[in-house]
Amino acid sequence: MTTILGLSGSLRRASLNSGLLRAAAEAAPEGVTITIGDIAPVPLYDGDLEAADGLLLVSPEYNNGVPGVLKNVIDWMSCGQGMAIFKGKPVAVIGASPGNFGTAHAQSHWLPVLRMLATRPWWEGRLMVSRAGDLFDDQGNLTDDKTRERLAEFVAGFAGSIGGGRS
Ligand code: FNR
Repeated sequence: MTTILGLSGSLRRASLNSGLLRAAAEAAPEGVTITIGDIAPVPLYDGDLEAADGLLLVSPEYNNGVPGVLKNVIDWMSCGQGMAIFKGKPVAVIGASPGNFGTAHAQSHWLPVLRMLATRPWWEGRLMVSRAGDLFDDQGNLTDDKTRERLAEFVAGFAGSIGGGRS
């Protein structure tokens, strides 16, 4: 069994990125579990990540960069002994936005952070969900089958790189 901690970087009730993460958890292949973390109680996260085989960041894009709330969570998690839980940890970044580039800039902005934390980022797949307003319902649930397929392929590829799941 491969376990992946998934964090959405949005606190919005109908968040596209939280919806994308819920769909990723549903799309996980047999033998892979994506546990969805809540970023509100920030300092509680260390234990979750320590127990996980991988980390899936589902990041919105704000002003062509990473959203402050998700960066704050990662910063909190890295404090003190926290740095050790990131070292060598497989990490993948995806995201959804109503714009044309589907969080491409934000995903690139995570690179120096992931390098500083000595993580093992997974680069073989990319998932940028653009024009996401048309692909999710009013509650932020993913409704588009094509995106669901791309997501399933991404999750299977990431989990497979960690060593779990049948794809
Ligand atoms: C945005 N948004 C946005 N989108 C984008 O593709 N590129 C960007 O640079 C920005 N910049 C930006 C700045 C600020 C301050 C806000 C509030 C929003 C739009 C953003 O992608 C949109 O609000 C998403 O729906 C946010 O993700 P959640 O909350 O739906 O997960």
